[in-house]
Amino acid sequence: MTKKDPGKLRSEAWFNPKDEKTGFIHRSWLRNQGYPDDYFRGRPVIGICNTWSELTPCNGHLREFAEYVKRGVLEAGGVPFEFPVMSTGETVIRPTAMLFRNLMSMDTEESIRGNPLDGVVLLTGCDKTTPGTLMGACSVDLPTIIVPGGPMLNGKYKGERIGSGTFVWQLKDKIQNEGFTPEDQVEAEICSARSSGHCMTMGTASTMACMAESLGLTLPGAAAIPAVDSRKKTLAQLSGRRIVEMVREDLKLSKILTREAFENAIKINAAIGGSTNFIIHLQAIAGRIGVELELKDFDTLGSTIPLLVNLMPSGPYLMEDFFDAGGLPVVINEVKDQLHTDAITVNGKDIGTNNTQAVCYNTEVIASLDQPFLEEAGIAVLYGNLCENGAVIKPSAATPELMSHRGKAVVFETIEDYHATIDQPDLEIDENSVMVLKAVGPVGYPGMAEVGNMDLPEKLLKKGIKDMVRISDGRMSGTAFGTVVLHVSPESSVGGLLALVKTGDPIILDVPNRKLHLEVSQEELDRRKAAWKPPKLPSDRGYTSLYTKTVQQAHLGADLDFLVGKSGDEVTRDAH
Ligand code: FES
Ligand code: MG
Repeated sequence: MTKKDPGKLRSEAWFNPKDEKTGFIHRSWLRNQGYPDDYFRGRPVIGICNTWSELTPCNGHLREFAEYVKRGVLEAGGVPFEFPVMSTGETVIRPTAMLFRNLMSMDTEESIRGNPLDGVVLLTGCDKTTPGTLMGACSVDLPTIIVPGGPMLNGKYKGERIGSGTFVWQLKDKIQNEGFTPEDQVEAEICSARSSGHCMTMGTASTMACMAESLGLTLPGAAAIPAVDSRKKTLAQLSGRRIVEMVREDLKLSKILTREAFENAIKINAAIGGSTNFIIHLQAIAGRIGVELELKDFDTLGSTIPLLVNLMPSGPYLMEDFFDAGGLPVVINEVKDQLHTDAITVNGKDIGTNNTQAVCYNTEVIASLDQPFLEEAGIAVLYGNLCENGAVIKPSAATPELMSHRGKAVVFETIEDYHATIDQPDLEIDENSVMVLKAVGPVGYPGMAEVGNMDLPEKLLKKGIKDMVRISDGRMSGTAFGTVVLHVSPESSVGGLLALVKTGDPIILDVPNRKLHLEVSQEELDRRKAAWKPPKLPSDRGYTSLYTKTVQQAHLGADLDFLVGKSGDEVTRDAH
């Protein structure tokens, strides 16, 4: 019934079918919103997939924002329909937004496929809203463009830049050592959230916006424009115009999201010092569109790329500075010799052509290739008995002296155990210890929470210690920093070797040689393994039950196993 004839719009199967009764039903009810008949006579129908929610503060401006997209769609002769999908606000939703990324993707996928849409605009912002909606869109594979909602204006507190997220991780130290009062804290709260938009550090949301642009899924220069800048509205309008043309050109996601586009994104992410969450989301997206991408590709392709962007958490600047300095086009142009410059993007031109005119206006913020902020910036992927399927560390956010380190484990069996014991004066821990946190992986938490960058114990902060080696099967916020080994796979809760680590065991971290090793004899490990019992799953009903039973491990992107791949845009039966 709704099968698309070649050369015809997909939506015509709804609005101009052979069976006039069905066409009447589809048109008539929609017309209760006052649309003229010609809306349904061969015009490209564009779905505006909106992750607006007042509970997702980073996306709180997107409802108004959709109107600018609609302007563009109408100008180009299309017909816009805005629809809501599940939205997750990183800071408020419990137990972690990551648990619901895949649910959001399912909502997006079914909403797109089940409706009379020819093309889609994804309005995104907060961390998971970009990969969540994009994963769903990939499983349908219509022409799709992303309009990132944009970062907040720079955080400013008493004349100084403060970065959303990054400042939070510095708070305990500030209270301990810098006389930071409760009043200071109240003031800093609003100073680090000065306007609409997502985190203005190079955290996960900014990383995701840059990922979308690097993959070729936004108009050039989209990622860094602040949420409240007039140019963001213009971008939204131009994206609305463009999606209508993309429908006419049948420029589908799979034509843009090639292996080459993914390789470009990995390299550009290294150059911007992007979040470790990039890995897990990019892999899940690749899995949906059907591009082979392995965890070690991130290291092979990215780790020798130099750091060109001096933003928190790797440097002192913020997204507004990045935008003023020229934004992502400058970075893309700078590393162009490393890229597949012929990768096609949503505007129909290749990524090389799109960015050749980019000019850097501030080399303190965006360095040139011959004077980078760091020589090798990409994410390093570690292997060893402690992480058979891999673990990751972000060198640009770590302490160089700790990159080769041997220390004794201090184990926290759960996040509750960590909170209860970390500041106990008799906890045996010093700066050489290796903090190990278990049961925070995809199955264990559930949802693989951003708790891997555990705060250091108060008594060591007082001594002036700023960093220690930390290891977990969880993630960390893209705004966080430290010598933090994350995404240990397999996770402890499904019987990964991490489950067997005991306090006092020596651990070797050797980033130059990509090794993470637990120095305990095989006989002893076998004994521990035999005595190990899997923990009870966190829930036996609802979505959480579905999630914990089907979620893939971190090294594969933590998608639900049955969601990998795509079903295309076809729906063969109608409701009537
Ligand atoms: Fe939404 Fe950081 S909390 S982007
Ligand atoms: Mg985050």
